[in-house]
Amino acid sequence: MKISVCGKGGSGKSTIVALLANEALRRGYRTLVVDSDESNTGLFRMLGFEFPPVPLMELVGGKKSLKRKMGQPSVLNEARIVTAHIPEQYLLQRDGLMLVSIGKILQSLEGCACPMGVLSREFLKKLILGTDELAIVDMEAGVEHFGRGVDTSIDSVLIVVEPPLESVNVAQRIHNLASGIGIRNVWAIINKVPSGEIATRLKGELQERHIEVIGCIYFDADIFMSSLEGGIPAKGVAMREIKYILERILSKAELRA
Ligand SMILES: Nc1ncnc2c1ncn2[C@@H]1O[C@H](COP(=O)(O)OP(=O)(O)OP(=O)(O)O)[C@@H](O)[C@H]1O
Ligand SMILES: [Mg+2]
Repeated sequence: MKISVCGKGGSGKSTIVALLANEALRRGYRTLVVDSDESNTGLFRMLGFEFPPVPLMELVGGKKSLKRKMGQPSVLNEARIVTAHIPEQYLLQRDGLMLVSIGKILQSLEGCACPMGVLSREFLKKLILGTDELAIVDMEAGVEHFGRGVDTSIDSVLIVVEPPLESVNVAQRIHNLASGIGIRNVWAIINKVPSGEIATRLKGELQERHIEVIGCIYFDADIFMSSLEGGIPAKGVAMREIKYILERILSKAELRA
């Protein structure tokens, strides 16, 4: 199963990716995290790695080379990609946890992020997972990845929603875009809520827009404290809720398969 985690900037996507990855590992899944965010660089640290993987962009010869190939039917030579065949410098591994990164914008005037979108789309399309494997994709903030077709091979879309109304509006657009390309499993996770009252209001807002809520993570001071060092906490309230969220995702996705 390929799960993408989307939403407004700063809503908690990377945090939820890392929490979900830990929970998937705990349940015995070999878990591939795909860092598809071309701006932020800290996901490797949240997952407990000491350094980031070499971006897959380098594997295809860098951005310029990919730009030349962009008009061609395939920018990756392989017809199918399995995790065992990804060279080790591009795939960090630890106890069943795997991390690949598509690429980052690092220099001024280096050009737009379109080649990274193309590479994300192609990589995810060709990625074949074993029955004991899960892929979790940390998407860039907002909706541009839909414009680039990155989500076309995704099975389940999780939209992270935090209290401001703008986050609900972005969720609505993501829901429409994901449903529009035929993704049936589209759910919202309400994150960083400070009280039950606000959680109920947000749930109502989302339900009115026909967006199913699959879980709710309260504002967690441990998460916030850990983020000061770039990590996530090993246990706590959020970890408990994530356990139920993954359980629901797996059973709902199975029922709809
Ligand atoms: N449930 C939570 N409780 C408290 N703080 C949280 C929670 N979820 C996320 N945060 C904090 O919110 C901030 C943003 O989280 P995160 O980086 O995961 O968001 P993001 O959506 O990936 O951001 P970006 O769009 O920049 O990639 C971080 O400081 C993180 O620790
Ligand atoms: Mg992020």
